[in-house]
Amino acid sequence: MAQRVTTTKRLARERVRLVDLDQRPELASAAVAAFAAGAPGKLHLVCGLPASMGQVPTTADLTACLGVVLACSATELLGAVALCPYSDEQVTLWGPASSAGLHGTNIPERLLTEARRALKDTGYTSVRTLVDHRNRELRAFFIAHGFVAWKDNVIFERSLRSDLALTTESSATADDVRLATTRDHTRISSLFAEAFPETGHLVPDLATREREGYRHYVLPGSGTLVGAAAVVGNGRRRWLKLIGVANKQRAKGHGQRLLAGIIHHESALGAGQLGLEVLGDNAPAVGLYVATGFKRQFTATIMTAPL
Ligand SMILES: CC(C)(COP(=O)(O)OP(=O)(O)OC[C@H]1O[C@@H](n2cnc3c(N)ncnc32)[C@H](O)[C@@H]1OP(=O)(O)O)[C@@H](O)C(=O)NCCC(=O)NCCS
Repeated sequence: MAQRVTTTKRLARERVRLVDLDQRPELASAAVAAFAAGAPGKLHLVCGLPASMGQVPTTADLTACLGVVLACSATELLGAVALCPYSDEQVTLWGPASSAGLHGTNIPERLLTEARRALKDTGYTSVRTLVDHRNRELRAFFIAHGFVAWKDNVIFERSLRSDLALTTESSATADDVRLATTRDHTRISSLFAEAFPETGHLVPDLATREREGYRHYVLPGSGTLVGAAAVVGNGRRRWLKLIGVANKQRAKGHGQRLLAGIIHHESALGAGQLGLEVLGDNAPAVGLYVATGFKRQFTATIMTAPL
Protein backbone atom coordinates (compact mmCIF):
# COMPACT_ATOMS: atom_id res chain seq x y z
CA MET A 1 0.00 0.00 0.00
CA ALA A 2 1.37 3.41 -0.92
CA GLN A 3 2.32 5.91 1.75
CA ARG A 4 -0.65 7.91 3.07
CA VAL A 5 -0.44 11.59 2.18
CA THR A 6 -1.11 14.03 4.99
CA THR A 7 -2.83 17.25 4.06
CA THR A 8 -2.80 20.13 6.51
CA LYS A 9 -4.95 23.02 7.56
CA ARG A 10 -2.31 25.37 6.18
CA LEU A 11 -4.83 27.16 4.02
CA ALA A 12 -7.30 27.83 6.80
CA ARG A 13 -8.82 31.20 6.02
CA GLU A 14 -11.76 32.98 7.49
CA ARG A 15 -14.63 30.55 7.89
CA VAL A 16 -13.59 27.93 5.32
CA ARG A 17 -10.88 25.54 6.41
CA LEU A 18 -9.05 22.89 4.41
CA VAL A 19 -8.31 19.82 6.48
CA ASP A 20 -7.58 16.15 5.96
CA LEU A 21 -10.40 13.69 6.62
CA ASP A 22 -8.17 12.23 9.36
CA GLN A 23 -8.62 15.51 11.22
CA ARG A 24 -12.43 15.58 10.86
CA PRO A 25 -13.46 11.87 10.74
CA GLU A 26 -17.02 12.83 11.73
CA LEU A 27 -17.41 14.32 8.21
CA ALA A 28 -16.80 10.94 6.48
CA SER A 29 -20.45 10.29 5.62
CA ALA A 30 -20.91 13.86 4.38
CA ALA A 31 -17.84 13.37 2.16
CA VAL A 32 -19.26 10.07 0.84
CA ALA A 33 -22.53 11.89 0.03
CA ALA A 34 -20.59 14.68 -1.74
CA PHE A 35 -18.78 12.15 -3.96
CA ALA A 36 -22.06 10.33 -4.66
CA ALA A 37 -23.65 13.65 -5.69
CA GLY A 38 -20.56 14.38 -7.76
CA ALA A 39 -19.55 17.60 -9.44
CA PRO A 40 -22.11 19.74 -11.27
CA GLY A 41 -23.04 18.17 -14.56
CA LYS A 42 -22.13 14.75 -13.24
CA LEU A 43 -23.61 12.07 -15.41
CA HIS A 44 -22.11 8.94 -13.88
CA LEU A 45 -20.30 7.94 -10.73
CA VAL A 46 -16.75 8.42 -11.95
CA CYS A 47 -14.51 7.29 -9.12
CA GLY A 48 -10.78 7.66 -8.57
CA LEU A 49 -10.58 4.03 -7.46
CA PRO A 50 -11.02 1.85 -10.57
CA ALA A 51 -12.64 -1.07 -8.76
CA SER A 52 -15.39 1.23 -7.39
CA MET A 53 -16.05 2.91 -10.74
CA GLY A 54 -19.77 3.42 -11.40
CA GLN A 55 -20.74 2.45 -7.87
CA VAL A 56 -22.08 4.55 -5.01
CA PRO A 57 -19.00 5.40 -2.91
CA THR A 58 -18.54 4.05 0.62
CA THR A 59 -16.48 5.12 3.63
CA ALA A 60 -14.21 2.13 2.84
CA ASP A 61 -13.45 3.79 -0.52
CA LEU A 62 -12.26 6.91 1.29
CA THR A 63 -10.10 4.77 3.60
CA ALA A 64 -8.46 3.22 0.52
CA CYS A 65 -7.38 6.69 -0.68
CA LEU A 66 -3.97 8.19 0.05
CA GLY A 67 -5.70 11.21 1.60
CA VAL A 68 -8.96 13.15 1.41
CA VAL A 69 -8.90 16.96 1.51
CA LEU A 70 -12.05 18.51 2.94
CA ALA A 71 -13.22 22.11 2.73
CA CYS A 72 -15.42 22.77 5.73
CA SER A 73 -16.84 25.35 8.06
CA ALA A 74 -16.96 24.72 11.79
CA THR A 75 -19.92 22.37 11.35
CA GLU A 76 -20.46 21.69 7.66
CA LEU A 77 -18.70 20.01 4.74
CA LEU A 78 -18.45 22.33 1.74
CA GLY A 79 -16.41 20.18 -0.64
CA ALA A 80 -13.91 17.35 -0.94
CA VAL A 81 -11.22 15.92 -3.19
CA ALA A 82 -9.68 12.47 -2.71
CA LEU A 83 -6.17 11.38 -3.70
CA CYS A 84 -6.33 7.85 -5.07
CA PRO A 85 -3.34 5.55 -5.64
CA TYR A 86 -2.65 4.89 -9.33
CA SER A 87 1.06 4.26 -9.93
CA ASP A 88 4.40 5.05 -8.33
CA GLU A 89 4.51 8.32 -10.28
CA GLN A 90 0.89 9.29 -10.64
CA VAL A 91 -2.12 9.86 -8.37
CA THR A 92 -5.76 9.96 -9.51
CA LEU A 93 -7.79 12.87 -8.15
CA TRP A 94 -11.42 12.04 -7.34
CA GLY A 95 -13.46 15.24 -7.31
CA PRO A 96 -13.43 18.08 -6.44
CA ALA A 97 -17.00 17.59 -5.31
CA SER A 98 -18.51 20.78 -3.95
CA SER A 99 -22.00 21.45 -2.66
CA ALA A 100 -21.72 25.01 -4.03
CA GLY A 101 -20.87 23.84 -7.56
CA LEU A 102 -17.79 24.72 -9.61
CA HIS A 103 -18.64 28.40 -10.06
CA GLY A 104 -19.35 31.31 -7.76
CA THR A 105 -16.95 29.94 -5.12
CA ASN A 106 -13.23 29.26 -5.00
CA ILE A 107 -13.65 26.05 -3.01
CA PRO A 108 -13.02 23.60 -5.92
CA GLU A 109 -9.91 25.58 -6.90
CA ARG A 110 -8.61 25.64 -3.32
CA LEU A 111 -9.22 21.90 -2.99
CA LEU A 112 -7.31 21.21 -6.20
CA THR A 113 -4.43 23.47 -5.17
CA GLU A 114 -4.21 21.82 -1.75
CA ALA A 115 -4.32 18.33 -3.28
CA ARG A 116 -1.39 19.18 -5.54
CA ARG A 117 0.51 20.84 -2.69
CA ALA A 118 0.02 17.78 -0.46
CA LEU A 119 1.54 15.56 -3.17
CA LYS A 120 4.66 17.68 -3.66
CA ASP A 121 7.86 16.09 -2.35
CA THR A 122 6.22 12.67 -1.94
CA GLY A 123 7.81 11.14 -5.07
CA TYR A 124 4.75 11.59 -7.29
CA THR A 125 5.26 13.67 -10.44
CA SER A 126 1.81 14.10 -11.95
CA VAL A 127 -1.92 13.81 -11.36
CA ARG A 128 -4.72 12.39 -13.45
CA THR A 129 -8.45 12.63 -13.23
CA LEU A 130 -11.38 10.91 -14.93
CA VAL A 131 -14.27 13.01 -16.20
CA ASP A 132 -17.47 11.63 -17.72
CA HIS A 133 -16.91 12.54 -21.36
CA ARG A 134 -20.20 14.48 -21.50
CA ASN A 135 -19.40 16.56 -18.40
CA ARG A 136 -18.16 19.66 -20.25
CA GLU A 137 -18.23 21.86 -17.15
CA LEU A 138 -15.84 19.69 -15.15
CA ARG A 139 -13.60 19.19 -18.19
CA ALA A 140 -13.40 23.00 -18.65
CA PHE A 141 -12.52 23.37 -14.94
CA PHE A 142 -9.58 21.00 -15.26
CA ILE A 143 -8.38 22.53 -18.54
CA ALA A 144 -8.38 25.94 -16.81
CA HIS A 145 -6.07 24.40 -14.20
CA GLY A 146 -3.50 22.98 -16.60
CA PHE A 147 -4.91 19.52 -17.34
CA VAL A 148 -4.94 18.09 -20.86
CA ALA A 149 -7.25 15.37 -22.15
CA TRP A 150 -5.27 12.20 -22.89
CA LYS A 151 -7.55 9.33 -23.92
CA ASP A 152 -11.02 8.00 -23.32
CA ASN A 153 -11.52 5.17 -20.88
CA VAL A 154 -14.54 2.92 -21.41
CA ILE A 155 -16.16 1.24 -18.41
CA PHE A 156 -17.69 -2.18 -19.15
CA GLU A 157 -19.75 -4.43 -16.92
CA ARG A 158 -21.15 -7.95 -17.23
CA SER A 159 -23.71 -9.74 -15.12
CA LEU A 160 -22.54 -13.23 -14.09
CA ARG A 161 -25.85 -14.44 -12.69
CA SER A 162 -26.51 -17.26 -15.15
CA ASP A 163 -22.92 -18.32 -15.68
CA LEU A 164 -22.80 -21.27 -13.30
CA ALA A 165 -25.26 -23.11 -15.52
CA LEU A 166 -22.63 -23.66 -18.17
CA THR A 167 -23.07 -25.87 -21.18
CA THR A 168 -20.81 -28.90 -21.60
CA GLU A 169 -18.79 -27.03 -24.19
CA SER A 170 -18.18 -23.96 -22.03
CA SER A 171 -17.41 -26.13 -18.97
CA ALA A 172 -14.59 -27.70 -20.98
CA THR A 173 -13.35 -24.19 -21.80
CA ALA A 174 -13.52 -23.13 -18.17
CA ASP A 175 -11.58 -26.24 -17.11
CA ASP A 176 -8.57 -25.00 -19.09
CA VAL A 177 -8.39 -21.89 -16.94
CA ARG A 178 -7.21 -22.09 -13.34
CA LEU A 179 -6.15 -19.90 -10.46
CA ALA A 180 -2.40 -19.31 -10.46
CA THR A 181 -0.04 -20.69 -7.85
CA THR A 182 3.22 -19.02 -6.80
CA ARG A 183 5.00 -21.39 -9.20
CA ASP A 184 3.29 -19.55 -12.08
CA HIS A 185 4.44 -16.09 -10.97
CA THR A 186 7.59 -15.84 -13.08
CA ARG A 187 5.76 -16.85 -16.26
CA ILE A 188 2.82 -14.54 -15.51
CA SER A 189 5.27 -11.66 -14.98
CA SER A 190 6.92 -12.34 -18.35
CA LEU A 191 3.55 -12.50 -20.06
CA PHE A 192 2.35 -9.23 -18.45
CA ALA A 193 5.67 -7.55 -19.35
CA GLU A 194 5.07 -8.57 -22.98
CA ALA A 195 1.38 -7.58 -22.96
CA PHE A 196 1.85 -4.25 -21.16
CA PRO A 197 5.33 -3.03 -22.19
CA GLU A 198 4.67 0.62 -21.32
CA THR A 199 3.09 0.33 -17.91
CA GLY A 200 4.16 -0.44 -14.35
CA HIS A 201 1.82 -3.38 -13.84
CA LEU A 202 4.65 -5.49 -12.41
CA VAL A 203 5.38 -3.01 -9.65
CA PRO A 204 4.85 -4.27 -7.01
CA ASP A 205 5.41 -7.97 -7.67
CA LEU A 206 2.63 -10.55 -8.01
CA ALA A 207 3.01 -11.97 -4.47
CA THR A 208 2.51 -8.49 -3.01
CA ARG A 209 -0.50 -7.98 -5.27
CA GLU A 210 -2.02 -11.26 -4.08
CA ARG A 211 -1.56 -10.16 -0.46
CA GLU A 212 -3.46 -6.98 -1.46
CA GLY A 213 -6.35 -9.14 -2.73
CA TYR A 214 -5.57 -9.87 -6.38
CA ARG A 215 -6.42 -13.31 -7.79
CA HIS A 216 -4.32 -14.32 -10.80
CA TYR A 217 -5.73 -16.67 -13.43
CA VAL A 218 -3.80 -18.56 -16.09
CA LEU A 219 -4.58 -20.28 -19.38
CA PRO A 220 -1.79 -22.84 -19.79
CA GLY A 221 -0.47 -23.93 -23.21
CA SER A 222 2.01 -26.66 -24.01
CA GLY A 223 4.87 -25.99 -21.56
CA THR A 224 4.08 -22.31 -21.33
CA LEU A 225 1.32 -19.83 -20.53
CA VAL A 226 -0.95 -18.65 -23.33
CA GLY A 227 -2.75 -16.06 -21.22
CA ALA A 228 -3.00 -14.60 -17.74
CA ALA A 229 -5.28 -12.20 -15.90
CA ALA A 230 -5.84 -10.51 -12.54
CA VAL A 231 -9.15 -9.98 -10.73
CA VAL A 232 -9.74 -7.99 -7.52
CA GLY A 233 -12.63 -7.78 -5.06
CA ASN A 234 -14.58 -10.25 -2.94
CA GLY A 235 -18.06 -8.72 -2.91
CA ARG A 236 -20.86 -9.23 -5.41
CA ARG A 237 -19.07 -7.02 -7.92
CA ARG A 238 -15.51 -7.97 -8.92
CA TRP A 239 -13.08 -6.04 -11.10
CA LEU A 240 -10.96 -7.40 -13.98
CA LYS A 241 -7.66 -5.54 -13.55
CA LEU A 242 -5.57 -7.08 -16.30
CA ILE A 243 -5.85 -9.64 -19.06
CA GLY A 244 -3.14 -10.52 -21.55
CA VAL A 245 -2.46 -13.15 -24.21
CA ALA A 246 1.07 -13.95 -25.43
CA ASN A 247 1.90 -11.92 -28.57
CA LYS A 248 2.17 -14.87 -30.93
CA GLN A 249 -1.03 -16.46 -29.65
CA ARG A 250 -3.37 -13.52 -30.22
CA ALA A 251 -6.50 -13.47 -32.41
CA LYS A 252 -6.95 -17.25 -32.02
CA GLY A 253 -9.76 -17.17 -29.47
CA HIS A 254 -7.52 -17.60 -26.37
CA GLY A 255 -8.64 -14.29 -24.86
CA GLN A 256 -12.26 -15.44 -25.05
CA ARG A 257 -11.39 -18.82 -23.51
CA LEU A 258 -9.50 -17.18 -20.66
CA LEU A 259 -12.30 -14.72 -19.95
CA ALA A 260 -14.97 -17.43 -20.11
CA GLY A 261 -12.96 -19.42 -17.54
CA ILE A 262 -12.57 -16.39 -15.27
CA ILE A 263 -16.32 -15.74 -15.45
CA HIS A 264 -17.01 -19.36 -14.53
CA HIS A 265 -14.60 -19.35 -11.56
CA GLU A 266 -15.70 -15.95 -10.27
CA SER A 267 -19.37 -17.02 -10.49
CA ALA A 268 -18.53 -20.08 -8.41
CA LEU A 269 -16.80 -17.79 -5.90
CA GLY A 270 -20.02 -15.75 -5.48
CA ALA A 271 -19.54 -12.87 -7.91
CA GLY A 272 -22.64 -11.26 -9.40
CA GLN A 273 -20.99 -8.74 -11.71
CA LEU A 274 -17.61 -8.25 -13.32
CA GLY A 275 -16.54 -4.71 -14.22
CA LEU A 276 -13.49 -3.36 -16.02
CA GLU A 277 -12.07 -0.27 -17.67
CA VAL A 278 -10.23 -0.19 -20.98
CA LEU A 279 -8.74 2.53 -23.17
CA GLY A 280 -11.24 3.31 -25.93
CA ASP A 281 -8.57 2.93 -28.63
CA ASN A 282 -7.59 -0.63 -27.56
CA ALA A 283 -9.61 -2.30 -30.34
CA PRO A 284 -8.60 -5.92 -29.63
CA ALA A 285 -9.55 -5.60 -25.94
CA VAL A 286 -12.83 -3.76 -26.64
CA GLY A 287 -13.63 -6.47 -29.22
CA LEU A 288 -12.85 -9.19 -26.67
CA TYR A 289 -15.14 -7.68 -24.03
CA VAL A 290 -18.04 -7.16 -26.45
CA ALA A 291 -17.59 -10.72 -27.77
CA THR A 292 -17.72 -12.03 -24.17
CA GLY A 293 -21.00 -10.30 -23.31
CA PHE A 294 -19.79 -7.14 -21.54
CA LYS A 295 -21.91 -4.00 -21.93
CA ARG A 296 -20.49 -0.47 -22.11
CA GLN A 297 -21.60 1.52 -19.05
CA PHE A 298 -20.03 4.92 -19.72
CA THR A 299 -16.94 6.65 -21.03
CA ALA A 300 -14.61 8.86 -18.99
CA THR A 301 -11.91 11.12 -20.39
CA ILE A 302 -8.53 10.71 -18.71
CA MET A 303 -7.01 14.14 -18.05
CA THR A 304 -3.47 14.63 -16.76
CA ALA A 305 -1.31 17.44 -15.40
CA PRO A 306 2.12 17.78 -13.82
CA LEU A 307 2.24 18.47 -10.08
C1 LIG B 1 -6.87 -8.04 -25.61
C2 LIG B 1 -6.30 -9.45 -25.80
C3 LIG B 1 -6.22 -10.12 -24.41
C4 LIG B 1 -7.25 -10.23 -26.70
O1 LIG B 1 -6.85 -11.60 -26.71
P1 LIG B 1 -7.00 -12.52 -28.04
O2 LIG B 1 -6.65 -13.90 -27.66
O3 LIG B 1 -6.23 -11.90 -29.13
O4 LIG B 1 -8.57 -12.35 -28.34
P2 LIG B 1 -9.49 -13.42 -29.09
O5 LIG B 1 -8.71 -14.08 -30.20
O6 LIG B 1 -10.12 -14.30 -28.08
O7 LIG B 1 -10.56 -12.46 -29.76
C5 LIG B 1 -11.76 -12.14 -29.10
C6 LIG B 1 -12.46 -11.04 -29.87
O8 LIG B 1 -11.73 -9.85 -29.74
C7 LIG B 1 -11.77 -9.13 -30.96
N1 LIG B 1 -10.41 -8.96 -31.46
C8 LIG B 1 -9.33 -9.74 -31.24
N2 LIG B 1 -8.25 -9.20 -31.85
C9 LIG B 1 -8.68 -8.07 -32.46
C10 LIG B 1 -8.03 -7.08 -33.23
N3 LIG B 1 -6.71 -7.14 -33.48
N4 LIG B 1 -8.75 -6.02 -33.66
C11 LIG B 1 -10.08 -5.94 -33.39
N5 LIG B 1 -10.74 -6.87 -32.66
C12 LIG B 1 -10.04 -7.91 -32.20
C13 LIG B 1 -12.65 -9.90 -31.90
O9 LIG B 1 -13.97 -9.39 -31.77
C14 LIG B 1 -12.58 -11.28 -31.34
O10 LIG B 1 -13.74 -12.01 -31.57
P3 LIG B 1 -13.93 -12.83 -32.95
O11 LIG B 1 -12.68 -13.60 -33.15
O12 LIG B 1 -15.14 -13.67 -32.66
O13 LIG B 1 -14.14 -11.79 -33.98
C15 LIG B 1 -4.89 -9.42 -26.46
O14 LIG B 1 -4.98 -8.66 -27.65
C16 LIG B 1 -3.81 -8.80 -25.59
O15 LIG B 1 -3.18 -9.50 -24.78
N6 LIG B 1 -3.54 -7.49 -25.76
C17 LIG B 1 -2.51 -6.78 -24.97
C18 LIG B 1 -2.92 -6.57 -23.51
C19 LIG B 1 -4.21 -5.77 -23.41
O16 LIG B 1 -4.39 -4.74 -24.05
N7 LIG B 1 -5.12 -6.25 -22.52
C20 LIG B 1 -6.42 -5.61 -22.31
C21 LIG B 1 -6.38 -4.48 -21.39
S1 LIG B 1 -6.22 -4.97 -19.70
